Amino acid sequence: MTTTTARDFDNYRYAELPARTRERFAPVSVSSTPRGEAVRTADGRELTLRTIEPGDVTAVQRCFKRLSPQDVRRRFLHAMSELPISMAQRLCRIDPEVEAAFVLIDETVKPAELRGVGRIFVDVASNTAEFSVLVELEWTRIGLGALLMQRLVDECRRRGVSELWGYVLMENRPMLELCKELGFVAKMVPGEASLAQISLKL
Ligand SMILES: CC(C)(COP(=O)(O)OP(=O)(O)OC[C@H]1O[C@@H](n2cnc3c(N)ncnc32)[C@H](O)[C@@H]1OP(=O)(O)O)[C@@H](O)C(=O)NCCC(=O)NCCS
Repeated sequence: MTTTTARDFDNYRYAELPARTRERFAPVSVSSTPRGEAVRTADGRELTLRTIEPGDVTAVQRCFKRLSPQDVRRRFLHAMSELPISMAQRLCRIDPEVEAAFVLIDETVKPAELRGVGRIFVDVASNTAEFSVLVELEWTRIGLGALLMQRLVDECRRRGVSELWGYVLMENRPMLELCKELGFVAKMVPGEASLAQISLKL
């Protein structure tokens, strides 16, 4: 377990986050540690941001069990009553050539719990990447979704990907708002009245 002390936070590197409403948000703070990056939210919660690992399978499964049916539908675009072990394994064992996945791990509890995850799949032929992102309900509205999305944008830029895109349900106002705040544009998906395709040219 990584122990984060006040001293670790002396030299904050502020993640490049969009401007926020001052009354509700201060920037999420991020600093480097040997295990990844220490993240501290404005309300004092501490997490580790790192790339996903094969050993995260059980944490991913526990996180899935804590999700509401609405969050599952918003993330996977359809209902799912459980996350099969084979799928959890697949989500944790990425192909670094064409995938990246960042997780926010809460190490203040035992076992450590996954509170958020953002991932991209790169389509080499079109040089674009599809994203997905998820933040556990009790950890929302404190800047973690924006932090994960910013990481995905940075990762795409690092790889020279020309566009980041994703499907979002039209009823998913939080995600549509978040994407708007980050400069994504939305368009309708032909034949899919409930779905928007949002994208950011890089
Ligand atoms: C969408 C989601 C990722 C947002 O995560 P988050 O950690 O709450 O996001 P942030 O705290 O960084 O919020 C960033 C902005 O998003 C928008 N937003 C987030 N939650 C919102 C809500 N409930 N209502 C309206 N806007 C919201 C706001 O513009 C917010 O900025 P503001 O709070 O300064 O107004 C999270 O709610 C989630 O995981 N939902 C379920 C899965 C999902 O929908 N994934 C997206 C499809 S891949």
